[in-house]
Amino acid sequence: MLILTFPDYLQQAQRLAQALDIQVQQVHLHRFPDGESLLRLPTDLPDHVVICRSLNQPNSKLIELLLCAKTARKLGAKRLTLVAPYLCYMRQDISNHPGEAVSQSIIGSMLAELFDDVITVDPHLHRISRLNQAIPINNAISLSAADEIALFLQQQFTNAVLLGPDSESEQWVAAIAEKVGFEYSVAEKIREGDTQVNMRLAEFDFQNKVVIIIDDMASTGRTIAKATGLLLSAGAQQVYAVITHPLFCDDAETYIMQSGVQKIWSTDSISHTSACIYLDKLLAQAVNNIL
Ligand code: R5P
Repeated sequence: MLILTFPDYLQQAQRLAQALDIQVQQVHLHRFPDGESLLRLPTDLPDHVVICRSLNQPNSKLIELLLCAKTARKLGAKRLTLVAPYLCYMRQDISNHPGEAVSQSIIGSMLAELFDDVITVDPHLHRISRLNQAIPINNAISLSAADEIALFLQQQFTNAVLLGPDSESEQWVAAIAEKVGFEYSVAEKIREGDTQVNMRLAEFDFQNKVVIIIDDMASTGRTIAKATGLLLSAGAQQVYAVITHPLFCDDAETYIMQSGVQKIWSTDSISHTSACIYLDKLLAQAVNNIL
């Protein structure tokens, strides 16, 4: 078994390779001036190849994944496993307007055609409960970073209140709260546009409390910034944020910090300066379980 990765994901792939005690090799990647990608894979591939790369910045990475998987098959790989801790296009799970593409099932079907196994972490599943409803293969494996995040929080805080900024985050905040034994509350959010978020805190006494916002991803950062502002107005002593997938588009990080957050921590699902909660052991266990 060999791990294949791309230059931008080498550190995470190396950690996974070390946890599995196997080799990692890089795909040689060239981007032409017009945006097309040229890939070159090692030619001596084993039967089982694990492609390891998160799918943030999805449009170029999905094309590169397609090129990589098809080339790996051509070079003789019999079993292809995708380890993508962040899985893109999982949010658009229904057609809200006539003619709208249901990205979740389209991208899910594409991945099912390319891979024998897909392993990811806390995908944004809203109206479905199992990943194989989106990616129709037997080994569509959805892991949770709740244990890793809970352990990290236990090392940082003796007591705090966790806040889920919207109803969709309740699944993650409730699981983590149970593991650390902290109280939690869930706010109500209405997204009015890409960078417009309205929110209402639930009845809860945040006065003089240390509050940690828990969310699966931060994209524009507006959700975390809005929650922070409301919490500080409600008397919270300090506000922190822990996110699984630090997408951080454009000014997101600055925008969040300006809202008064003390610190943001995240998993290494995506490379970012806040990434300090490593997922390699969780991913390695999942790879070992499918062998
Ligand atoms: C949405 O339901 C997600 O759980 C996140 O809350 C959301 O994607 C964060 O987006 P943003 O950082 O753009 O507010």
